[in-house]
Amino acid sequence: MSPLGDWSPSSWLRRPALQQPHYPDAAALERAVGELERLPPLVTSWEIEALKTQLAEAAAGRAFLLQGGDCAESLEDCTSPAITAKLKILLQMSLVLVYGSRRRVLRVGRFAGQYAKPRSEEFEEVGDARLPTYRGDSINRSGATALDRSADPELLLRAYERAALTLNFVRALVGGGFADLHHPEYWDLGWVQHSPLGEEYRRMVSSIGESLRFMETLAGRAVAAMNRVDFYTSHEGLHLLYEQAQTRQVPHRSGWYDLTTHFPWIGLRTNDPEGAHIEFFRGVANPIAVKVGPGTTPERVARLLDLLHPDDEPGRLTLVHRFGARGIADGLPPLVEAVRRSGKTVLWCCDPMHGNTRFTSAGRKTRRFDDIVDEVDQAFDLHAGLGSRLGGVHVELTGENVTECVGGARGLAAEELDRDYRSRVDPRLNYEQALELAMRIARRMGGSAAQADADRNPSPESHERDAPTR
Ligand code: PEP
Ligand code: CO
Repeated sequence: MSPLGDWSPSSWLRRPALQQPHYPDAAALERAVGELERLPPLVTSWEIEALKTQLAEAAAGRAFLLQGGDCAESLEDCTSPAITAKLKILLQMSLVLVYGSRRRVLRVGRFAGQYAKPRSEEFEEVGDARLPTYRGDSINRSGATALDRSADPELLLRAYERAALTLNFVRALVGGGFADLHHPEYWDLGWVQHSPLGEEYRRMVSSIGESLRFMETLAGRAVAAMNRVDFYTSHEGLHLLYEQAQTRQVPHRSGWYDLTTHFPWIGLRTNDPEGAHIEFFRGVANPIAVKVGPGTTPERVARLLDLLHPDDEPGRLTLVHRFGARGIADGLPPLVEAVRRSGKTVLWCCDPMHGNTRFTSAGRKTRRFDDIVDEVDQAFDLHAGLGSRLGGVHVELTGENVTECVGGARGLAAEELDRDYRSRVDPRLNYEQALELAMRIARRMGGSAAQADADRNPSPESHERDAPTR
């Protein structure tokens, strides 16, 4: 028997599948899924394996994962400005992180497929009506009528197409030199001139530019590897018929690949080891992330390691913890201990967004920038204290000037959120808050890199060095 036992791309159908939409028209669903099965894949197994190798580097402490993007992508927002703004902020953040951490940074977007959302409630009150909740643009519509909220299988095809358009544009930009480190001005967002953080950002850019020129002078040629960087895609693997339809065997490799995205993750609400999502993803060869947080017991983590990570394959499993600034100190250590007991290696990543959601007195869903920074800071400390390592962050952000999270360098107040609150689901960091978060992480990692150097080479001055910033 194969190591996967009785797994097949449809074996999940024998398990309880949470968060799946109910489609009123079964024949229409079958048609849409059949079409998805025929259409070409969005990504390739080569790219997926390349990312897995890089995630293994991050798990070993030699690279850092930056995963970010919208909470929920919208079909409408598949536009040139929205896509370039997201690429720009991820590039800027990664530049800052490379500078601070002196490590390679892997850029993984929450894009080209982040269209299906898990919801805590089946129904919601809208005015006088009780309507099914909005579940993301690949499932239903956010309008306030029963028809809008009815699950429509055609939307799966629209989402697949928008994901393909997004990827096509990202690949063309990156392949064409947009992400060239010699030209960071290509990814300047106009605000850099008038942001409180602009000066610090410009200093980093010019210092990287100088180092690059120095290396090129020494080598006598351009450093070609700096002309382009990789971008990978990820989304929550929530809608199992969608994922199954693009899960295939490929020539010259063993195993099955989910070709909707490079790096699917399993959300907190669907991480039950006996449930359909874990059954499905245990059989695919992609690198997989699983969200863990309040309610995830050490026993569950041990079981997830058995099912999803049986061979301890480097780069295969990322655990994304999201406890909130108030919960991480108690919640994380038992899970790190469970992984340690297994003797296996995972990549630990902190999502400082989903445990820090709160409501303003006016009823707006928001997050405080300080809580976000605090959770990441605690994550670094806790992992260091437990002998493990924080290898990445997972953030909800946008490259635009939205007003969804409070705080940050401009001290955005709760009363200002109405000015440009666009998210239909969770509040995202705007570009300035996102860059500030990257700077805080970079300073923090730079501090610990300096500290590590000092620990290896004690010198009289090292006692006078600043403690790592918290
Ligand atoms: C998300 O990442 O958008 C999400 C719903 O997260 P979680 O599963 O951690 O709640
Ligand atoms: Co979210």
